[in-house]
Amino acid sequence: MWLRSSFSVLALVGSALAQTASTYIDTANGIHFTGVTEPVHGVTYGLVFPPLATSGSNPNEFIGEIVAPIATRWAAFALGGAMLQNLLLVAWPNGGSIVRSPRFATGYVQPTPYTGPIITNLPSTTVNATHWKWVFRCQNCTSWSGGGSIPVDAGGVLAWAMSTTAVNTPADPNSDFAEHTDFGFFGINFANAHASATDYTNWSAGGTGGGPTGTPTSSTPTSTTPTPTVSATPYDYIVVGAGPGGLVTADRLSEAGKKVLLIERGGPSTWETGGRYQPAWLNGQQLTKFDVPGLFESMFNDGNPFWWCKDVSVFAGCLIGGGTSINGALYWYPPDSDFSNGFGWPVSWGNHAPYTAKLKARLPSTDAPSTDGKRYLEQSFSVAEQLLKPQGYRQVTINDVPNQKDHVYGYSAYNFIGGQRGGPVASYLRTAKARPNFKLLQYTLVTNVIRNGSQILGVQTNDTSVGPNGVIPLTPKGRVILSAGSFGSPRILFQSGIGPSDMINIVKADATQGPRLPPQSDWINLPVGYNVQDNPSVNLVFTHPSIDAYENWANIMSNPRSADASQYIKSRSGVFAQASPRMNFWRAYSGPDQRTRWSQGTVRPGAASVTTSYPYNASQIFTITTYLSTGITSRGRIGIDAALRARPLVDPWLQDPNDKPVLLQALGDIVAGIKSVPGLTMITPDNTTTLLDYVNNYGASSMNSNHWVGSCIIGASKDVAVVDANTKVFGTNNLFVVDASIIPHLPMGNPTGMILSTAEQGVAKILALAGGP
Ligand SMILES: Cc1cc2nc3c(=O)[nH]c(=O)nc-3n(C[C@H](O)[C@H](O)[C@H](O)COP(=O)(O)OP(=O)(O)OC[C@H]3O[C@@H](n4cnc5c(N)ncnc54)[C@H](O)[C@@H]3O)c2cc1C
Ligand SMILES: *[C@@H]1O[C@H](CO)[C@@H](O)[C@H](O)[C@H]1NC(C)=O
Ligand SMILES: *[C@@H]1O[C@H](CO)[C@@H](O)[C@H](O)[C@H]1NC(C)=O
Ligand SMILES: *[C@@H]1O[C@H](CO)[C@@H](O)[C@H](O)[C@H]1NC(C)=O
Ligand SMILES: *[C@@H]1O[C@H](CO)[C@@H](O)[C@H](O)[C@H]1NC(C)=O
Ligand SMILES: *[C@@H]1O[C@H](CO)[C@@H](O)[C@H](O)[C@H]1NC(C)=O
Ligand SMILES: *[C@@H]1O[C@H](CO)[C@@H](O)[C@H](O)[C@H]1NC(C)=O
Ligand SMILES: *[C@@H]1O[C@H](CO)[C@@H](O)[C@H](O)[C@H]1NC(C)=O
Repeated sequence: MWLRSSFSVLALVGSALAQTASTYIDTANGIHFTGVTEPVHGVTYGLVFPPLATSGSNPNEFIGEIVAPIATRWAAFALGGAMLQNLLLVAWPNGGSIVRSPRFATGYVQPTPYTGPIITNLPSTTVNATHWKWVFRCQNCTSWSGGGSIPVDAGGVLAWAMSTTAVNTPADPNSDFAEHTDFGFFGINFANAHASATDYTNWSAGGTGGGPTGTPTSSTPTSTTPTPTVSATPYDYIVVGAGPGGLVTADRLSEAGKKVLLIERGGPSTWETGGRYQPAWLNGQQLTKFDVPGLFESMFNDGNPFWWCKDVSVFAGCLIGGGTSINGALYWYPPDSDFSNGFGWPVSWGNHAPYTAKLKARLPSTDAPSTDGKRYLEQSFSVAEQLLKPQGYRQVTINDVPNQKDHVYGYSAYNFIGGQRGGPVASYLRTAKARPNFKLLQYTLVTNVIRNGSQILGVQTNDTSVGPNGVIPLTPKGRVILSAGSFGSPRILFQSGIGPSDMINIVKADATQGPRLPPQSDWINLPVGYNVQDNPSVNLVFTHPSIDAYENWANIMSNPRSADASQYIKSRSGVFAQASPRMNFWRAYSGPDQRTRWSQGTVRPGAASVTTSYPYNASQIFTITTYLSTGITSRGRIGIDAALRARPLVDPWLQDPNDKPVLLQALGDIVAGIKSVPGLTMITPDNTTTLLDYVNNYGASSMNSNHWVGSCIIGASKDVAVVDANTKVFGTNNLFVVDASIIPHLPMGNPTGMILSTAEQGVAKILALAGGP
């Protein structure tokens, strides 16, 4: 199913991309390409351009190639570095020949055939027993519909995608195909990917001139490794990652007078952080896409989604605020069960109330975020209520009674402030930044900690201007705190020689990170990446005549309803003062194993995708997303691949057979009352598909709720956990983790609230722990 998988990227060149293109010569055709051989599947992607124009516009063509092992059934370039709103060049073998197909996608659905590119297969295109190879000239290919283009004289990013499943009808260039099995990105300096006019003309006519001994007109950039003479400032605490975990931690440490450095790989988000990315309708306003709650749904259909981490295979925010700058901002004060010993917390964490109280004082929730106190676009609330009430649900103000999570529903609660995105950025970061002993470094990637056995000495960054070879040291008793998220923190640990040896051995094979590992005798074996949970979630899509589906949020960036846009600009009120959800509900179930599992529902107008055999009125659609949360017993595993990209290795959803029946029961209960709500129709699944078949055929990655926890699980000993009850990494003296990854069990609701409370409590324990600065 094509549901919102993350295939998107920063439109910037950066050494933080897992791979960067270099020049190579394909000896079979003599062409000097710039590209990569992606190490996981062994597919090569290369391009070469004609010379830049000396005047007028640049040529609009290039020569490209894809060389793939036969197990790769199709592969593709995404020329703008993202799946959406970009020219996609897809190819696959069909018998002895190559079928190619330009495509375009405006949503995470089957990309449609696209006309415009003039593609000529060149003679070195081949299929043999082990590989297929597509070498082609692509004219009218450097720009495409919607204004996207390849920056032929500058740096950029290319994306690739591939699948091990063949297209449906290989002979047909317009064939449908299933979602890619893998994708990735590489940085490429297009300015250095131009051939001479003679060579380009020869190659594009099928020649093999230039030859292996030929000299490319532009050489590979010689890396002038500067011998750094910079001296670095040591810090008491270095916090890695400016998501909710890192922001609370850095704020409280600086409040305590410590000298604190917060390092974030991404850049600004909201206006107050320096962000300036805004739709045209906000021109002149001090508001970015990230500030306006109602623009949340546009995170998933933007052609330039620079905020997603491009080396993580699921959605993760790489910018100031982390996930809280791009998420729906649903915000729940944690119930006591979120910190209970029964769900894996050390006993010393049980009394979360003082920490949650500190959180509430800094960042209160609201279930009426529009500044006029009114609620807008509430039709889906009213319809869903008619399904729930007959089943004994009652309405509550959810955050007034956090422990009541059975048969309750209420208005969605958020951490918006004054009709704008608030969260930890507009609270904790604001106070930290005002202190002279706090410093924030942006666009700086931490790859690993520098350690001598169990003692951490500093962090390795990718910026040689901040310290010798990019290393930033600690003061003598200093400490490092990883808050890089459920995928980011494990990767830093693997790259520091901490984790299962299979992961560290992948690092060892990497040309850059391998040599940075400590000696094998100092590797620390911990279950980093194991014990991962995320809510399995399934979308049910309905229509009802009362619903205003808000054009499925499709026009909110480019062409918003003008009255709503003006109202928001004038007074931070109306539809744009809230993200898409309108109602949340919870119910407890007893599973086949007699354990209690909770289901959560989130109701919103619109739908990420609809699959039905019948016509329906798209103006009347709404979605109920049904999740399983606290109590689930399934766990998965997170790790890295050979390109050091972080990804799930074992999907966490419905691994334990006791989870699925509860999910099916929860879904069944929601739909049980459809017939008693006049005008209500379920369109996905429709009446040709049973709920059981729907769930059985639901793509695993479509069950992703982006609520990953557990990869650096807290616990009693190094055999079962990564960090101890003080959040210190076992086997180290001064390395800590404070973010979603230490949480031992899925919380009751969307996790931000309980992550913030976890950080309040974690940093208090770190400050109280003897031996620190
Ligand atoms: C699309 C989406 C929607 C969501 N909706 C909601 C919601 O409505 N409500 C809710 O409660 N939760 C929601 N979530 C989940 C929530 O945002 C996350 O659980 C939360 O942000 C995790 O916090 P964290 O501090 O663990 O990590 P993150 O928020 O991921 O922050 C980690 C930070 O570290 C930085 N970083 C990573 N690696 C490095 C490195 N090597 N060097 C330097 N910096 C690094 C990253 O750039 C990032 O800023 C959503 C998540 C997504 C992706
Ligand atoms: C070039 O491609 C665009 C679409 O990207 C198309 O509209 C245009 O007609 C094409 N031009 C030529 C000369 O084929
Ligand atoms: C098959 O094709 C690949 C890619 O073009 C090439 O590297 C390989 O040498 C070929 N194998 C044989 C046996 O020709
Ligand atoms: C390409 O260049 C080679 C070497 O100069 C030459 O032999 C060949 O004829 C040229 N081919 C074409 C198609 O121009
Ligand atoms: C370091 O990585 C970040 C994050 O990808 C990037 O934005 C930045 O440009 C890189 N810095 C250097 C000096 O390469
Ligand atoms: C590493 O630690 C050992 C003692 O544990 C010490 O002898 C050695 O000097 C340290 N090395 C460095 C580079 O700090
Ligand atoms: C579809 O729904 C909209 C909004 O309710 C309504 O105005 C329109 O008439 C409906 N269209 C049809 C064909 O029923
Ligand atoms: C299934 O749904 C369609 C469209 O809503 C409807 O026309 C049809 O009668 C339904 N079939 C049954 C068996 O309910």
